[in-house]
Amino acid sequence: MSGQQKVQIPTASLIDSKEVFGRDFDRAWGEAGFVSVTGYNEVLPDAAIDVEKARLYHALEEFMRLPQRVKLSHHLPQVGGQRGYTPNGIEQSGGRAFTEWREHVMVGPRIPPDHPLREYQPYKLYLDNPDLPEVPQLIPIAENLLESLEQLDFIMYERLAEHLGLHSGYFSARLAWGDSSLRLHHYPKLEDDVKIITDKKVDGVTVLTVRFPDGSTIPNLVRAGKHTDVDFSASLLGAEAPGLYIQARDGTAVAYTASPDSIVVNTGDYAQRESAGKYPSSAHWVEMTEQTARKDRFSAVRFTHQRPRVLVRTMPTLRTPEAVYPDEFEGVLLLQRLWEIGYLAPEERDERIQVVRTKLMPDEDLVAKIMKWEKENGVRKITRYFDDIKEYTHVMAAGIGSVR
Ligand SMILES: [Fe+2]
Repeated sequence: MSGQQKVQIPTASLIDSKEVFGRDFDRAWGEAGFVSVTGYNEVLPDAAIDVEKARLYHALEEFMRLPQRVKLSHHLPQVGGQRGYTPNGIEQSGGRAFTEWREHVMVGPRIPPDHPLREYQPYKLYLDNPDLPEVPQLIPIAENLLESLEQLDFIMYERLAEHLGLHSGYFSARLAWGDSSLRLHHYPKLEDDVKIITDKKVDGVTVLTVRFPDGSTIPNLVRAGKHTDVDFSASLLGAEAPGLYIQARDGTAVAYTASPDSIVVNTGDYAQRESAGKYPSSAHWVEMTEQTARKDRFSAVRFTHQRPRVLVRTMPTLRTPEAVYPDEFEGVLLLQRLWEIGYLAPEERDERIQVVRTKLMPDEDLVAKIMKWEKENGVRKITRYFDDIKEYTHVMAAGIGSVR
């Protein structure tokens, strides 16, 4: 493909020392905006991430092959694509320049019955995943993987934090119990009776013009248009077919195909804001070409989110008197993006932003409740790093632990 080179994706191995991993991860995010992480099976052997990943893809294919009316019975139009099934034609992540050809199932974290986050549910946050009785294993596999990937985040981001001279829990405790989600994509193939008329480039992305049997045409067809992710980071759990490109800092398009024993972690918009641009949010897209259009493509991506009332703000060590990015709540940034990509009407966006600003309890209050819950239930996520709320609050403001 002209102008699109195959470039080695930078790597970081969790088998290396903490220092080497932190250095490699930081360098890759700074230079490229993405990193191929290996060694997770060794640091989290019980999670069997690669085994679960294979089971997930199997169940995903089974679900996507169900009749459309069955899949549509799991569509939840009121939740902005955040849970359940979303059919083709709704999300347009790359904006108006492209027409995207995809459907997905979105799975959120499993919230225990008596957990403080249940107080957020009336505001359409941390919603329970709907059952998918036709493929009953799909949601449990995805929920378990989300749990494992959160544990993996803790390991990765405590190493990154230490490399940056921050408290080991600085990133991890912000991400713990975040409304992270697993997005299970199906990019349907074009049927044989759909004619590919032309291909061309739009903003460096190969797009197709196609004609359907009824004579209608779609221009600028792509699997996913060029976009950045509104999250802290995204973890790509492989993708069996070619088509994904990630734009490196120098503008080069890097072709990514899955290596079965790696997870590619790319920077999202929050990482860019929190690092004041040191880690640029990496643009990426999924092409459909004449060569790939006749085959289905499946992929699983985990979006890493903080809790909605966590303030996305430049990390203390990189703050300057002139703020590069204004501070903003995670939940507000997410709602703005859901409006941009076609899910929310402006009124609903504004109403829900007001909820985040005025109805949700402050993050410190939530964290205090969660710490209590964790201690009562023998769970260690935030309490893996902090024993009391004062220390948490201090580290979030200063980046480093208090001197006692
Ligand atoms: Fe994306």
